Amino acid sequence: MISKDTIDRILDAAQIVDVVSDFVALRRRGANYTACCPFHHEKTPSFSVSPAKGIYKCFGCGKAGNSVNFIMEHEHLGYVDALKYLGRKFGIEVQDKEETQAEAENRLRSESILAVTQFASEFYQKSLWETDQGISIGIGYFKERGFTSETIKKFSLGWAPGGRDSMSSAAQKAGYKKEYLVDSGLSVEREAGKDVVDRFYERVMFPIHSISGRVIAFGGRTLRSDKNIAKYINSPETEIYVKSKSLYGIYQAKSSIAKLQKCYLVEGYTDVISFHQAGVENVVASSGTSLTTEQIRLVKRFTPEVAVLYDGDPAGIKASLRGIDMLLEEGLRVKVVLFPDGEDPDSFARKKGPQALRKFLDESEEDFIAFKTRLLSDDTKKDPLKRAQLISEVVASISVIPDAISRAVYIEECSQRLNIAEEILSDEVKKLRKKKQYGAYGQTTESRSEPGMPKYFPPLETGEKIPEFITGTYCEPAEKELLYYLIRHGESNLYGTESQNDPTSPEAKVAISVSQFILNELQNDDLELQNLVYKKIFDEYYKIREKGQEYIQKYFINHPDPQIVQVILDILHQEHSLTVKIFVESVTPEEQMLPVVVPKSILIYKAKITAIAYQEICNKLADAEKSGDAQIQNELMEQVQILMHIRNSFSKELKRLTI
Ligand code: CTP
Ligand code: MN
Repeated sequence: MISKDTIDRILDAAQIVDVVSDFVALRRRGANYTACCPFHHEKTPSFSVSPAKGIYKCFGCGKAGNSVNFIMEHEHLGYVDALKYLGRKFGIEVQDKEETQAEAENRLRSESILAVTQFASEFYQKSLWETDQGISIGIGYFKERGFTSETIKKFSLGWAPGGRDSMSSAAQKAGYKKEYLVDSGLSVEREAGKDVVDRFYERVMFPIHSISGRVIAFGGRTLRSDKNIAKYINSPETEIYVKSKSLYGIYQAKSSIAKLQKCYLVEGYTDVISFHQAGVENVVASSGTSLTTEQIRLVKRFTPEVAVLYDGDPAGIKASLRGIDMLLEEGLRVKVVLFPDGEDPDSFARKKGPQALRKFLDESEEDFIAFKTRLLSDDTKKDPLKRAQLISEVVASISVIPDAISRAVYIEECSQRLNIAEEILSDEVKKLRKKKQYGAYGQTTESRSEPGMPKYFPPLETGEKIPEFITGTYCEPAEKELLYYLIRHGESNLYGTESQNDPTSPEAKVAISVSQFILNELQNDDLELQNLVYKKIFDEYYKIREKGQEYIQKYFINHPDPQIVQVILDILHQEHSLTVKIFVESVTPEEQMLPVVVPKSILIYKAKITAIAYQEICNKLADAEKSGDAQIQNELMEQVQILMHIRNSFSKELKRLTI
């Protein structure tokens, strides 16, 4: 147990903004800070940090708590380990007497590996700055590359000396165990039981930092030109270093990325460092491997826009085009900068210097889809087969973009550029999207509950996504019911207010407003109200919602549009005629029933439009059977099955919500 006194000291020291901003780029908004939530996947920021209350809260996924909860959640630590983490960060000694041996060992393992890695980083830096070999060879090389002392220090660059075991033996002398040296990947055990040797020797060292700035791995470059020696070697994956989740330079780049709202993607260590040296700091490298979804999401926490930098090798560019679709798929805006033949970002930055680099980056940036179209159409010119191929390539990229408006804009642009009718392109895009929806269909529930990704806001647990082919289905009473809760109770909380629940308890349900809940649920399924008057009210509501329920109701009652006034008066004077209300005992005040009735009305809304769409498709299927078109029949059958499945899980969920 850690003493109450220590916990209090840690809580005092660990100011929420300091703790969170190690991991998330916060932007100030009034007295609070906001960001895209690090715990779930989102496009618009609903994560908020209140320095005054010392808490964070996400209105999207509902996660909330204080500094300790944040570290527990984000770093997957237990309560005690999270306190220790904060204790270390803020220089407060934490004594913990009752930890079991197994617990202690477990915790010590990653801690020990991190400690060894930190020791190694300091060792390599010392040998760079303080030994003859380091100064003459290491510093000599970096200076030759144009790195200043400041840059070398900013990236904690180092020198691994020769002598096979210099680092390993220094670490052991300093008390670090052989076991952890091996686990860190920095020492290698040639034969069991024998002395360990260094993985890195006679190399300049590039430490790789975690997003919070701890050293987790290294890349080492030889300065020899011997073809038999690998130019770069890297740490293997370890408990603390997972390649697919790290990006070189993210720690040094994060604040600049957030500030400039753009991230440059380059190939390697030297590109990143040369850019910093030339004053461009919003840059990261995926280090050799092609980008992973995790890396993309890491960038996305800080900005919605990336620019991929290419050196001018056409074959290489074409090979990487598909990888870029992943960026689009994650909803990022993607730009491309093509460097002149024979130059890579590193060499260009070094040669041209800060001003020319910035100018070049700004002027040569091109939208990715335009770039791809141009690149491929150079090859195709008049060959119709190749042209068809080109069109399908471009359509493939457009179809993965999640935002419908962006898709429409691209379709329009490409239709002009490729001289193809817009409808043809948009039909192709639709086809691909449908196909994809079917393909991903079996995984929807799974992908929502992947480890580390919280489930969507608790009340609805079906995990079902409404398939795109039924959106546009219309059910007037269910829409009106949603509007009812919005207008009457939009700014009430679905869950108890903070004073009723302890926000520091990880179990505590957080307050989320009815209006936010409804918005989340509809956006999550790309649903839009179909009744135009309702939709207008809905949209206007969210523009004025901070003003409070009373103001909102007055605003609509006095609205210049008589149709709106009619609907509002109707809603405000409506007595128990609503579907959901039948489930509710009339003696209970409506306010207290919100946590049940609002999710339920959402569910009924979704269930209704699913049912209507189901019926329509069944009718179509009957027609198709008459006409005997097998392909259409198959397509419709597939849709029917999907809808049946969703309908069933909705009705299960409805049962669950019935008290
Ligand atoms: N890289 C790597 N492994 C390799 C080669 C390259 O990880 N075997 C990465 C490094 O991150 C490097 C980047 O790719 O920074 C660029 O490669 P390259 O230009 O070959 O490395 P430099 O160190 O810049 O070598 P040179 O001075 O010859 O350009
Ligand atoms: Mn190079």
